[in-house]
Formats: sequence, structure tokens, C-alpha cells
Amino acid sequence: MKRVLIATGGGDCPGLNAVIRAVVKRAAQEEDWEIIGSIQSFDGILREPTEIMVLDEHSVRGIHVDGGTIIGTTNKGGPFAWPVKNADGTWGAVDRSDEMIRKLQYMGVDAVISIGGDGSQKISQKLFEKGLNIIGVPKTIDNDLSATDFTFGFQTAVQIATEAIDKLVTTAASHNRVLVLEVMGRNAGWIALHAAIAGGAEVCLIPEIPYDIEKVAKKLKSRYNKGKGNAIVVVAEGAAPKGGTLLSEKSDEVGYENLRLGGIAHQLVHDLKSIGFEADMRETVLGHLQRGGSPMAYDRILATQFGVKAFEMVLEGKYGEMVAYRHPHIISVPFHEAIDNPNFVDPEGDMVKTAKGVGIDFGE
Ligand code: F6P
Repeated sequence: MKRVLIATGGGDCPGLNAVIRAVVKRAAQEEDWEIIGSIQSFDGILREPTEIMVLDEHSVRGIHVDGGTIIGTTNKGGPFAWPVKNADGTWGAVDRSDEMIRKLQYMGVDAVISIGGDGSQKISQKLFEKGLNIIGVPKTIDNDLSATDFTFGFQTAVQIATEAIDKLVTTAASHNRVLVLEVMGRNAGWIALHAAIAGGAEVCLIPEIPYDIEKVAKKLKSRYNKGKGNAIVVVAEGAAPKGGTLLSEKSDEVGYENLRLGGIAHQLVHDLKSIGFEADMRETVLGHLQRGGSPMAYDRILATQFGVKAFEMVLEGKYGEMVAYRHPHIISVPFHEAIDNPNFVDPEGDMVKTAKGVGIDFGE
């Protein structure tokens, strides 16, 4: 009997369950493979008693439709930075990676499939360098991994943001208001850009194109002057004005190392008012709605392709690599290639040109 361990790490995203199901279903076509899931990423292995779940065809039946992950996830701590409380009550971190690898050997785990974003794949790379047979599967709603054309979860997040714009349009029109929608994406503007095009927004502000508040006001005023008293602004959580910095705060959650982004929609409304723009304005922060619920068909399919490929990489012994989509192929790339360069919106790229072509203003 050979054993594969699956872990889902980092923020959840629609399609994780479809990957898990695809690995299990593909493995069931081979002789003598058992798939187990570690609960809440690698925490399930590091905890005593160990928290794992046997993943068989019965336990994964129908889960491709469901959001979240049946084995749980976490974006805190991990094998290289396990939180420990110091004698003085403060929190520190210890490296438990060697211990975890030994435990996996003891458990008879032949290979690990780590489904996660850039943070998780950096951990995968380090575990691979320590000798673990590990394969990566990219996930994130942010679409900010450069090795793959798309990550699953992104299209669902864009769909949810687009539906939010569609709803905001009708109320903005009724009240003659400027409505600002803040979307996720960290330092990448992909969700904002795609949703702005799909939803027909007037202004789109993304981290890759720092904006000038006067230019944003000018665009909005020009619309007013044409007699249309409403507008939609989509702003990415990582966007910032020219010469400014993005809004973020350090989380006080133990083991959470990322900065928490957010608040730019509120700031934008405030700044527009302070330079004399007089329209009624309101902001909506879409937040975690973008990560919840059922994955759309595109993400279910991409996630299924990734899961099948990941198990086939186990059969081939292609460790130290991550699954990637390069249209029209599902390929694998070394971890370092996957994590070295983030995938940001190209301000000169075709997607920005398309947006400008339909009159979307970036406040440049
Ligand atoms: O990376 C995915 C993401 O949803 C980002 O878009 C967002 O900034 C972050 O995670 C939010 O993280 P958390 O769920 O920890 O608040």
C-alpha cells in the first residue's frame, strides 16, 4: 500500500474540494494507493494526537460542488514557524519541519500534495529541499502566481464581484450616487480589473497603476456633466494613490504573518469629498464573500485538471514541482519558478487596453 497525504494551506478558495476529489478518483484507478488528508494544512500532522482524515471515493462524493475545503486550512504558523508561548507570555515560533518529516516517514507517507498559494508553495520548496517527496497545486482567488495562466478560485471571485457590481448599478442609478466597491487581490489587481470590465464600471483602481485623486474626480465629474448622475468605482484592496502607500494593518492573531489589507474604498470616498467632489458616495467592501460558496464550472474544471495531474506527477515521481496551466496544457514547473515572480497586471497589457478601450478610467 502506498500513501499520499493532501494538505490545503493558506486562505481557502472555491475549487479546493474539487482538487481533493480529483486526486482521490484518479488514485482509485491504480492498485494499492491510499489518500489521507491532514486537517488544517500541516497542523494535523504536527498536533498530538495526529489529525488526519482518510479520503476515499465515499468521503469525496459530490464535494466538487462545495466551497471551502473538507480537510480545513490555516494561514497561520506552519512547520517552519510553529507558534509557541514564551515564559513571559509573548509568542515566538519554532522550526518543527524535521520532526514533521520524520513523522510522515513513520506514518508511511510516500508523497505529499500541497494545495496552496505562494506562501504554501514556499513552504513546499523548503520541505522538498529537506528531502520530502512533495508536489504543489496552485490555488488563490488573487491569481498572482506567474507560473500558471490562472489559479482556480479566481474566476469564481470575479463572478461574485461582477454580480455585486450588477446589483450596485441599479441602486446607484436610482439614487444618482457614486458607489465604490472594494475587492480583494492583495498586491495584484486582477479581480478588480476583470470585474470592472465584466460589470461595466467607470473607474478601476489597481495596485499596479497608482492613481491621482484629481484624475478620478475629473472622470466622475465628466460623467456628471453628461447628465449621468451615477457611477461605479471598483478599487482593489492593494490600490494606493500616487506617492501614497497601501492601507494595511498588522494582525494580532498568533502566527498570522501577512499584513491585512483593506480600507481603501473608505479612504477614497473621504479623499474625493476633501477635494470638493460633491456627489453622494457610498462604499461596499465585498470581503470574504469572494472566497465563499460553490466554485463556478470553470474553476471546478481547472481544479479537477490540477488534481488529476498532481496524482499523475506522484506516479511519475515528479517531486519539487507544481502543477500549472499554460493554455491549452496542464504542465508542471519547479517550485522556485512558481514562487520567484508574482503575477501582476501589466499596465501596458491587453487587459488594461481592453478596459481603456471601453472607457474605464484608471485615474492615471
Ligand atoms: O490571498 C487571498 C486573500 O483572500 C486576499 O485577497 C486577502 O487579502 C487575504 O486573502 C485575506 O486573508 P484573511 O482571510 O486571512 O483575512
